[in-house]
Amino acid sequence: MVVRPIIIRMLTHEDADQIIELERLCFDYPLGERTIRTYLKTLDHISLGAFHEKQLVGLVLGVVEYDSLHIVMVAVHPLYRRQGIASTLLKKTESLALARNIKKFTLEVDVSNSSAIRLYRELGYKATKIIERYYENGNDAFLMIKCITQ
Ligand SMILES: CC(C)(COP(=O)(O)OP(=O)(O)OC[C@H]1O[C@@H](n2cnc3c(N)ncnc32)[C@H](O)[C@@H]1OP(=O)(O)O)[C@@H](O)C(=O)NCCC(=O)NCCS
Repeated sequence: MVVRPIIIRMLTHEDADQIIELERLCFDYPLGERTIRTYLKTLDHISLGAFHEKQLVGLVLGVVEYDSLHIVMVAVHPLYRRQGIASTLLKKTESLALARNIKKFTLEVDVSNSSAIRLYRELGYKATKIIERYYENGNDAFLMIKCITQ
């Protein structure tokens, strides 16, 4: 097994180009450049990237909405999947949010995206409702929520 040195750090608007590139690689219907730049520049967000030799290979973008964190994107480069990068990023994002007393996490996931649904379930997210025709291609989404009680 190859052990890759992965560095995890906060993402800022200066990382926008790499974020946009990774998003294009990972999604058929990306949020797009303008939306991502707006999130990073103008919204209160908690976002982490995983870097391998300065290349962004994984990310979590979370936007603070009152007392909760809305996870708007989770993506890992195809060559770096199944190595625990997404779960590590989500757990670290959670810790950063908890330090700000944010204990509720929400996200939408395509009902057909079984790998992502499994990832979120393993981390304690529960599907609470179906949002019909949420995606551009007409697919439905699960709204998944995690609340930390402590
Ligand atoms: C979904 C995604 C973020 C997972 O990233 P990852 O770094 O490979 O995930 P992890 O290695 O942390 O996986 C953790 C667990 O999630 C589940 N999982 C992740 N990918 C899976 C797959 N392809 N098939 C089945 N289960 C999977 C497994 O339970 C896995 O644990 P295991 O490897 O010990 O079995 C990645 O596949 C991706 O970027 N996909 C395209 C974009 C996307 O769909 N994002 C989510 C949109 S809501």
